[in-house]
Amino acid sequence: MNPNIQFPLPENNQLEFHASCSEGLDEFLVEEISKYSLKIIAKNRGGVHFSGPTSEILKFILRTRFSSRVAVTLFRTRVNSADDLYTRSLQFPWETIIEPEDSFRIDAMTKDILGNSRYAMYRLKDSIRDRLRKKEDREGEIEKNHPDVNIVLRSFQETAIVQLNLSSLPLHKRGYRTEISEAPLREVLAQALLAFADWKEDELLLDPMCGSGTILIEAALRLKYKNQINVPLLTESPVFLRLFSSESLRDEPGPSPANKTIFGFDTNEKAIRSARINARKAGVENFISFEQSDFRFLHKKQNFQNIKIITNPPYGERIGEKSEIKDLYTEIGKVLKDNYGGSSFHLICGDKSLLGYFRLKADKEKSVTISNLKGKFVSYSIK
Ligand SMILES: C[S@@+](CC[C@H](N)C(=O)[O-])C[C@H]1O[C@@H](n2cnc3c(N)ncnc32)[C@H](O)[C@@H]1O
Repeated sequence: MNPNIQFPLPENNQLEFHASCSEGLDEFLVEEISKYSLKIIAKNRGGVHFSGPTSEILKFILRTRFSSRVAVTLFRTRVNSADDLYTRSLQFPWETIIEPEDSFRIDAMTKDILGNSRYAMYRLKDSIRDRLRKKEDREGEIEKNHPDVNIVLRSFQETAIVQLNLSSLPLHKRGYRTEISEAPLREVLAQALLAFADWKEDELLLDPMCGSGTILIEAALRLKYKNQINVPLLTESPVFLRLFSSESLRDEPGPSPANKTIFGFDTNEKAIRSARINARKAGVENFISFEQSDFRFLHKKQNFQNIKIITNPPYGERIGEKSEIKDLYTEIGKVLKDNYGGSSFHLICGDKSLLGYFRLKADKEKSVTISNLKGKFVSYSIK
């Protein structure tokens, strides 16, 4: 069982944390956690349990690009039924977690012994409210949409795990995507593609088919927040602010750059308009230049040298017809060879069968899941 939690956490906290990620990103998450001085306790599909010094945990949480959620384990207990969970939870000092002004919500993702998630969630809720009533003559208000405190109940075999989410909103929901063009890429996949392409903040970046701008906005957030991309969301979370002293958050966002180094183009005027609005919402409009252009003719307007081209081209499943798309891929391959020598080209593609039409030799490839489609990340050096 985890020792009781202290606010703020002491440097040598003994707690267990859990980061969860979307399907297909487990490898990215494990590799990301391994870059910090953290101890991986267990890995399972969709998540990693880890522990470490508070300062290192904070560094990870502020920067994680692949976690959907990070939670701290409050307690772990063996149960035979949801009623057992009720009894065990009644002993937990919920009054230290849920303050008088806090609302709360419980999300239950249970299996095996607590197979009826709804019932298990209700029993946990009853015990929290009974505890608060007994200790402080209050109940705690339930709030389904934007609770101050979000408790997570998990179970497997005969073990129940009760966790406290550091933010009730998923970390990748950065709130800027109000304008959606056709087939937008999920934010975490954009971050995974930037990582796959090994894009560094001092490199020029071009998305010639940028749609609503997700890849470029995710890159610009890394520049603006000096990689601490979760700062805007986490500093709105009461639980996060109680756990980590505000001292550690004094790092200000970087200034706007003198020259823009991130460039987005798209043939679709509406997509460019959406991208501009989204970038403004994300506060990164000064980092990115968006303009309407067809990639096949872009080199005639602007001469990009030694640039990382990172993109999510149409692949015919959701936009455009297959035969036109094949021609587009052939033309893109030719335009790259003729005009972008010395640069590199990295993409996420939902249809592997199209890749051959580029007539380029891949440096590396990785399978990924995009919505329900099995796709690929691929990198090419342009000779
Ligand atoms: C899959 S979408 C990109 C979505 C984007 N990653 C996002 O998150 O919104 C592909 C984009 O390629 C654009 N496109 C198609 N052909 C193009 C071309 N020849 N030149 C530039 N853009 C093109 C489409 O207008 C579309 O916005």
